[in-house]
Amino acid sequence: MSEKSFYLTTPIYYVNDAPHIGHAYTTVAGDLLTRWHRQRGESVWYLTGTDEHGQKVMRSAESNGASPQDWCDRLVENAWKPVWRDLEIANDDFIRTTEPRHMERVQRFMQDLMEKGFIYEGKYEGPYCVGCEEFKLPGDLDDGKCKIHSKSVEMISEINWFFKLSDFVAPLLKHYEENPSACEPESARNEVVAFLEGGVSHLSISRSTFDWGIPVPWDRKQVIYVWFDALLNYATAVGLTDSPESEGGKFFSRTWPADVHLVGKDILRFHAVIWPAMLMAAGLPIPRKVFAHGWLLVGGEKMSKSKLTGISPADITSHFGVDAFRYYFMRAIPFGNDGSFSWEDMSARYTSELANDFGNLASRLLAMLNKYCDGKIPEKNEAGKLTKSLARTVAVSDEAICALDFQTGINAIMDFCKEVNGYVTANEPWVVAKDPSRKGELDAILYNTAESLRALAVLLFPVMPISTKKLWNYLGAENSLGSIEKQVISQVSTWGQLRPGTKTSKGEILFPRLEEAEK
Ligand code: MSP
Repeated sequence: MSEKSFYLTTPIYYVNDAPHIGHAYTTVAGDLLTRWHRQRGESVWYLTGTDEHGQKVMRSAESNGASPQDWCDRLVENAWKPVWRDLEIANDDFIRTTEPRHMERVQRFMQDLMEKGFIYEGKYEGPYCVGCEEFKLPGDLDDGKCKIHSKSVEMISEINWFFKLSDFVAPLLKHYEENPSACEPESARNEVVAFLEGGVSHLSISRSTFDWGIPVPWDRKQVIYVWFDALLNYATAVGLTDSPESEGGKFFSRTWPADVHLVGKDILRFHAVIWPAMLMAAGLPIPRKVFAHGWLLVGGEKMSKSKLTGISPADITSHFGVDAFRYYFMRAIPFGNDGSFSWEDMSARYTSELANDFGNLASRLLAMLNKYCDGKIPEKNEAGKLTKSLARTVAVSDEAICALDFQTGINAIMDFCKEVNGYVTANEPWVVAKDPSRKGELDAILYNTAESLRALAVLLFPVMPISTKKLWNYLGAENSLGSIEKQVISQVSTWGQLRPGTKTSKGEILFPRLEEAEK
């Protein structure tokens, strides 16, 4: 059997509107992590998609005078997919919950749980928040309003089908006790454990008062509760319920269980309680990790379209560019904490870290290669201290990024970048160049700087795929070493890879000054 893929998912997003930077935050984080794992030479599968059923989407379609299916088709094709393309998201698949491949597998899964005795008919009476698509508990409300959406909840009373969720409280508690890394960060795990210890009731998994959903296979008057439907996307997209000998079944065994479900902290309980319980009931392996990141805040509250605080990614990328967008959010906010986006902070980091530290180092080197080395990589020479620092940088960044501590990982790489800048400044190649007898010394300084930039391009490629690919080309590395995608993290610190004599080019400035970008 072939190797199990590193399988990572984002939440599937509601298509009640176009994406804002909160959605992009999760998807960029997933893209960085999966690109990094690919760069480690692993087989990777990265899934994202859209959550299209339920009242929230149905009502937004209605208020826009469209049928739910047309509304979803339009938004997916004109907004969601283009935004991910623009942000250089390299997902392997995109699942929509209205696709037959998903709907059929959801029905089969549900039928199976029915046959296994985990589903029964009952009456649900209580508050429901359409914004969250969630049956609420008294503690979830503030003066009758949902704490997340600050909107009044609706009271519902329906005969529904129920999933025996509370049967799984003890196995779930045991699971999190034995596998602390199954829910991170620690604060998230504590929240889940406290929630489980507080007692969990059985869960209504169907609705009977509207029809925008997947029909319950044995009771077509009801549609499957949107979260039960949506959570299953992670498994339906890779072949859940297909027979083991079929293509789908083989693919399922190569991908499942998911290695990481990335989620915002608002939807932690669904992923760390309901979802693993559904899988346990079906006798399937449960995900290896659910990681709950924090929120992007506006005025101290979760940024959201429904509160009219959503900023579209294009508002930022049109000014700073796509790479800077990706860099900023992964670098500035510790993953797992809340953070605020500020125009000033982003401008400051763009200028000091991207334009000055990284971009300027590249421009200086490429200009000097042009001037002093006939636009070619010079002869190799002893690298000295930089090799040791680079080896340490690779070790620290690899460990941190694999542990989803993107900030520490990127900081380590940027510290190396600063060190290389210091190396150039201290060695003054422009002074050495004036003395023809010091040609060997000059070559050594420039070769070492070029090698450092080669390493920086590979290490930063998962964060900033556009500018690093340009730099890779300017260094002539595409010709001597092959594509940047093929470079392996474990080999990055092997010194002396750039081939002397390879043609380089001055190229364009990687991160133009903001005043210039505005012209
Ligand atoms: N459709 C459900 C998820 C189903 S997964 C089986 C849903 N969709 S959502 O469109 O509301 O988006 C949820 C995710 O978007 C959050 O979990 C989070 O990952 C991301 N974010 C939405 N707003 C955000 C912020 N303001 N800040 C950070 N992430 C945010 O819930």
